[in-house]
Amino acid sequence: MNKCIIYKISIILCVVLCFSSCKHHDEEYHSVTDKIKAESKDYHGTSISSEAYIDHINTIEVTENDITFLIPERKGEIKSYSCTECHSKPLTQMQNEDLKKAHWDIKLSHADKMTMNCVTCHNGNDMDFLQSLTGDQIDFNASHLLCSQCHQKQFNDWTGGAHGKRIESWAPPRASMTCVNCHNPHTPGFESKWPERYNTQKINERK
Ligand code: HEC
Ligand code: HEC
Ligand code: HEC
Ligand code: HEC
Repeated sequence: MNKCIIYKISIILCVVLCFSSCKHHDEEYHSVTDKIKAESKDYHGTSISSEAYIDHINTIEVTENDITFLIPERKGEIKSYSCTECHSKPLTQMQNEDLKKAHWDIKLSHADKMTMNCVTCHNGNDMDFLQSLTGDQIDFNASHLLCSQCHQKQFNDWTGGAHGKRIESWAPPRASMTCVNCHNPHTPGFESKWPERYNTQKINERK
């Protein structure tokens, strides 16, 4: 009997407490975002820095969707750059000549042939640049802008840090891998693979 009363009282207390505290917050903030903004007003970041860990990689600063962060430099990583060492004239001209086939190792398996060929992304008149769908030059170091034309959702997620991956550490300054660090632009999909610890042989043996 006694236990039951105590139980009831505690439930009532809980309900009262909860309502009073919820109400308090509701009045103060319109949304969770408002609350985060207000309560982090006096937060000036952390004294921890990831600078020491990203020191060894060559990075460049980008600002996309009003967010500024670092991405790895690309041109130094591309074996056949600069392209104009061979592409000294427009591609259409080169293709008419009887040259040895180049880039035989590149297979395009991205969008279908109706949607995409080499010069959808590469600038046939100046091979040292990529190009947008409207023919504007895009630097090889900013290839994320090329991808963003058709993959807005992943691009926006990436600028916010939800798609892709940080390099080394969460601490500022933020350095993030760029699209081509993970996706080969010519064959951007990943092959599906079994989890490392999923042993199909064992499953069969157990049957
Ligand atoms: C060692 C010389 C050489 C270098 C360096 C080179 N190319 Fe080429 N590329 C060629 C030749 C030759 C052709 C024409 C023959 C062919 O189509 O295979 C060609 C053709 C192409 C084509 C057209 C392919 C097709 O099937 O229509 C593209 C696109 C291209 N190159 C892009 C590049 C880019 C981008 C770079 C730099 C990152 C580059 N190339 C660097 C020699 C080179
Ligand atoms: C979806 C856009 C896209 C298409 C289509 C495309 N490329 Fe590329 N290509 C890129 C990007 C972006 C890079 C730079 C990648 C990096 O930073 O590593 C690149 C790099 C290259 C390179 C230098 C890298 C290497 O492996 O030597 C060559 C050569 C090249 N492309 C040739 C071609 C040829 C030939 C075709 C057509 C068969 C083609 N590309 C189609 C986007 C594209
Ligand atoms: C001209 C438009 C266009 C551009 C530019 C483009 N893509 Fe795509 N991409 C497509 C289309 C179309 C598909 C196939 C349809 C789909 O899966 O959504 C595709 C598919 C993909 C896929 C899924 C592949 C799979 O097998 O599931 C990835 C990943 C991808 N693209 C990454 C990139 C990256 C990275 C870049 C920049 C280097 C890029 N794309 C540039 C149009 C584009
Ligand atoms: C750290 C590596 C990484 C980076 C950086 C990255 N991606 Fe991806 N992306 C992935 C993985 C992993 C998947 C999931 C592949 C799967 O499910 O098969 C993916 C999936 C995708 C897909 C296919 C989505 C679908 O539902 O099939 C597209 C398109 C894509 N990424 C575009 C981009 C673009 C554009 C950028 C740059 C703005 C980018 N990615 C940067 C790793 C990355």
